[in-house]
Amino acid sequence: MDRRCFVKACTVGAGLIAGGGAGLAVAGDTSAHRRQRVRLVGADGTPLRAAQLAAGAQYVFHYPFAATPCFLLDLGRPLAGRNGLATEDGRRYDWPGGVGPRRSIVAYSAICAHMMAHPTRVVSYISYRTPRSEDDPETGVISCCAENSVYDPAAGAQVLSGPAPQPLAAIVLDYDAGRDELHATGTLGGDMFQRFFTEFAVRLSLENPSRDERGPLPDDVRALPLETFSANVVLC
Ligand code: FES
Repeated sequence: MDRRCFVKACTVGAGLIAGGGAGLAVAGDTSAHRRQRVRLVGADGTPLRAAQLAAGAQYVFHYPFAATPCFLLDLGRPLAGRNGLATEDGRRYDWPGGVGPRRSIVAYSAICAHMMAHPTRVVSYISYRTPRSEDDPETGVISCCAENSVYDPAAGAQVLSGPAPQPLAAIVLDYDAGRDELHATGTLGGDMFQRFFTEFAVRLSLENPSRDERGPLPDDVRALPLETFSANVVLC
């Protein structure tokens, strides 16, 4: 399937799902939403150990809903927060930076802020490109090959180039240093979840007819390497 067909296929079948997706606004930051707290575990169901993630590691997990994919990345270096990010509708927010023993771990919604390309079991047109060198602009970024939006995962996933109108939504992570475990606790920024469920309602219902796509998640959510989750990772 070529890029254009992929985008078209993903946008076919718009449905009418209303409501849902709301979280509890965090005091002092109108863009952060506390959501269900879940622990991130590996394919075998045991907790992911933050200290054991390799630099450049790229995982897919689903949060805050069973159908909405996210990236978990270890960028391999301490990541300071970034102030003054803005959503498409002009809301300002601050991204808190990396977590974990090296403050190098970040998570973002993997739903592109342009036309919502996202990893599926069949294909992913969006992925993190491991850095080849410091002056290589094609790497060290999250690239969406559908229409070439590029995001900086070290800076709150702000848009570096392309048609995306806002950063990828950030996933708020809580690091339990005593257990070396990671929890997802909320979202930050301009999320696409309502549009995602509207645009892909038919496909989601065909893929999982009995699943409540917006019901509660289990306490433990599996995070799989992108190459395991998606059969075909498209690079550009
Ligand atoms: S869907 Fe268009 S750039 Fe990602």
